[in-house]
Order: sequence, then C-alpha cells, then structure tokens
Amino acid sequence: MPSSNERYHDRIAARYDDVYKKDAYWAYYHEVSWQDLKPSLPRDLSRPVLDVGCGTGLFGLRLMKSGYTVVFSDLSRKMLDVALRKAGEQFPSREADAAVADITDLEPFEDERFSFVVAQGDPLSFSTDRRRAWRNLHRVLAPNGCAVVSVDSRFGGCQPFVGRNDLEGLEDFLAKGAGTWLADRAEERFPFHAFTPTSLRQEAERAGFDVVRVIGKTMFDLRGGHPWIDDLKTRRRLLAMEKRYGATELALGRAHHLQITVRKRDAEAPQRAEPRTERVRRGGRRRKKGAR
Ligand SMILES: C[S@@+](CC[C@H](N)C(=O)[O-])C[C@H]1O[C@@H](n2cnc3c(N)ncnc32)[C@H](O)[C@@H]1O
Repeated sequence: MPSSNERYHDRIAARYDDVYKKDAYWAYYHEVSWQDLKPSLPRDLSRPVLDVGCGTGLFGLRLMKSGYTVVFSDLSRKMLDVALRKAGEQFPSREADAAVADITDLEPFEDERFSFVVAQGDPLSFSTDRRRAWRNLHRVLAPNGCAVVSVDSRFGGCQPFVGRNDLEGLEDFLAKGAGTWLADRAEERFPFHAFTPTSLRQEAERAGFDVVRVIGKTMFDLRGGHPWIDDLKTRRRLLAMEKRYGATELALGRAHHLQITVRKRDAEAPQRAEPRTERVRRGGRRRKKGAR
C-alpha cells in the first residue's frame, strides 16, 4: 500500500514542472541552490553521484550536463519516470541509472558508492525516520564526499499559521517543527519536519558528518511575479548578495528553506598536523611555535 506521501507525488508528477514554471522565482531559487552546491562537487567524474528525491530530475540533469554519471532515485515511481524520460531526451547517448528508493533506507545502494549526494526539495523533511535517513546518506557516500541537503525551515514556515489565526498551531510548530503537508485530497496529506539551523546541524553531526555550511534559501522572497526576477543584470546582483550573505544569521532566519552541505570524514586520512602558529597575546598577533 503506497504511503500518502508517495500517492501525492505520483499524482502530481506529470504536471510538477509546469507548476514550478508558473513563477519565475523558482528558477532563481534553484540558481541559489546550485550556486551553493557547485563548490562541493568532486573533481573526479569517474565515480557516480546520487540524486535523492530527484523528482522530475532538475538537479540530476544539471549534474549530467556537468559530466557526472548520475543515479536518480525517488520514493515516487512516477516522478522517477519523468526524470528518466528527460534524461533520455537530453542525453540520448548517455546511461542514466535509476531506482525507487526512500531516503530513509536507500536500500538499493551499496556502501560508499557515490562521490557526491544531492537531496533537494525536502525528501529529508518528508522522511518518516530522519535518524535513519542521515545514517543512510552517510553510508552511501564515499569518504571525503559531500552531501547537499535542502529542507524546510521552521522560522520560514510560521507565516501560514499567522495567516490562519492559528496561535496554538504556531506555538506547537515553533516548538517541535512538526507540520502537515496540506494536499488537496485528505488521503494524500503527510507529515513533514521543519528544521532550525541548530537542529539541522545537530542531526548531521550525530550521523558523523562534518558540517561545511548552512545557508538560508532564499534571502529575498521574490515569489509572485516580482519585476527584479526577469531582469538579468538585477538577478546577477541579487545572486551575488545571496552568495555573500546566505550563511549569515539574517538569511537563516528569513528563508523558507535551509540548505546544508556536509562532508563525510575520511577515517583513513592522516590526522591533521598541529597548527604551526599560536596566539600569544590579545589583538591576534601570532609568533611561530617554539619561538621566544
Ligand atoms: C519537492 S520535490 C523535489 C524534487 C527535486 N529534487 C527538485 O528539487 O526539483 C520532492 C521529491 O521528494 C520525493 N520524496 C518525498 N519523500 C521522499 C522520501 N522519503 N524518500 C525519497 N524521496 C522522497 C518526492 O516524491 C518528490 O519527488
């Protein structure tokens, strides 16, 4: 029996892209996501990368365009079918592997298979067991590999409660981060989890990851046809500000989504050498270790 989450995503798969194309803001949002993700991509193109919760393939296809061998995975068979069809159309001579998989177990994939993992558009927020999901992201990544994971933000998710005059709901949501995805059909509603920057970091660290960075997406909420979005020069300036300030407290508080970049430690790597300098007095002046 498919879960409500699976049923919902199966049903919307065929029109998912059209829904997001209606508002040009989402292209901006995806650009902010990609801009942040890019520096964490591996140099080595020979090992496959994994797109978890790939949906209709937005990020996996972009990774294919950058030369990577991509494995697409999603809880929803119908989403995966759309992603694979697009991969076939856009890259007819390339292989694209795919598997139905829940982020909670990533069962089809063997340990350390991927040099990079992307999970955009909330599969971790939608997971029924986040601890297991993190463990599995860690398991399938090769040592030193990065995962870039996007989730719902708790502070960014408050406004609908304010709009509904739902004070109790707001208090509860802020305290626990537990929400319900309000699909039109009651049988397709499913729970989601909204993170604070701190809870997101803590969960990643508990799974054994080093946190590289957390950003808020996006600093500027330009949903609903803001004129800045269509002007190329303005867009470039906005993207530069997102890059510069995206990891600041201001951005983390404002944004409706958070994006975390984590790295799997390489247990085999030699320990880092002792720092060669030490702070000797206030004001930050340093002298060589051992120097008198
Ligand atoms: C909002 S869409 C994002 C799709 C794509 N990553 C993107 O950014 O355009 C969320 C996707 O996550 C998938 N999903 C939801 N829960 C999941 C889970 N527990 N494990 C894996 N995928 C899941 C859905 O089927 C859907 O395709």
